[in-house]
Amino acid sequence: MTASTAEEPLPTPTYDRIGRGYRDVRRPDPRLAALIREALGGARSVVNVGAGTGSYEPAGTDVTAVDPSRVMLDQHPGRRKILAGAEELPFEDGAFDAAMAVMTVHHWPDPLRGLRELRRVSRRQVLFTWDPGHRPELWLIEEYLPEIRDLEHARFMPLSAMVEAMGAHTVVPFPIPYDFTDGFQIAYWRRPEFFLDPVVRRASSTFAQLPASVVEPAIARLRAELASGAWHRRHADLLTRDTVDYGYRLLVAGPGDDAPPDGPRG
Ligand SMILES: C[S@@+](CC[C@H](N)C(=O)[O-])C[C@H]1O[C@@H](n2cnc3c(N)ncnc32)[C@H](O)[C@@H]1O
Repeated sequence: MTASTAEEPLPTPTYDRIGRGYRDVRRPDPRLAALIREALGGARSVVNVGAGTGSYEPAGTDVTAVDPSRVMLDQHPGRRKILAGAEELPFEDGAFDAAMAVMTVHHWPDPLRGLRELRRVSRRQVLFTWDPGHRPELWLIEEYLPEIRDLEHARFMPLSAMVEAMGAHTVVPFPIPYDFTDGFQIAYWRRPEFFLDPVVRRASSTFAQLPASVVEPAIARLRAELASGAWHRRHADLLTRDTVDYGYRLLVAGPGDDAPPDGPRG
């Protein structure tokens, strides 16, 4: 359903290369799922943009999944699936009660256009993203792979720009639990040994963008420092924490369907 012509084929979406087996490592976390469900504000019809394999879609709602990656949509269990990018949503204005977009805006070639589309097709918008201005950074970046910093800063919009583009009225911090089940990079802040597993690394688009010549020596050093106990000595404080705020944020714009018609919006 994406527009593509013989003269100008669309580039292969990244997740058509790296998306196989996504559901094995990227298991939706129930605490984040509850936050997203609540933020959707009683929406009955929801468009999930950058839906991937359908994580965080609330049960009992009428969901349409949109994603430009066929590999991802093939793993999505839903019935209504549209192969498209956020920048050109094939829906009427106001077609949905709500739109959701979870850990996807940083993949969009034109995020401002995509966010405009979300606002066009839905009354309420719920986004989950990361604030590149937030500190602390994950130790993996500071101590082993500073190359990740440039990559992430190039693709994540500053939070204030995202809030403005969405017209968001609510920003909710989501400190990452130590046993977060959705295996994107930050999930393993207290479980460093997971980074040694190539299957875990393959499920992360950040690792997928870094050459093996950069990743492998860094992982070898991590392996050695875990074996010697050096990592644990350096991070003894982290090992006592249950959550850390690493800058993940839920943003909400537009009125909820559970708000009284004349009551305060949002
Ligand atoms: C990290 S995955 C997140 C998937 C899902 N939202 C989740 O929380 O598991 C990012 C998704 O964004 C999709 N994506 C990439 N470019 C996109 C675009 N222009 N518009 C919409 N989605 C896009 C990818 O194909 C991929 O499925």
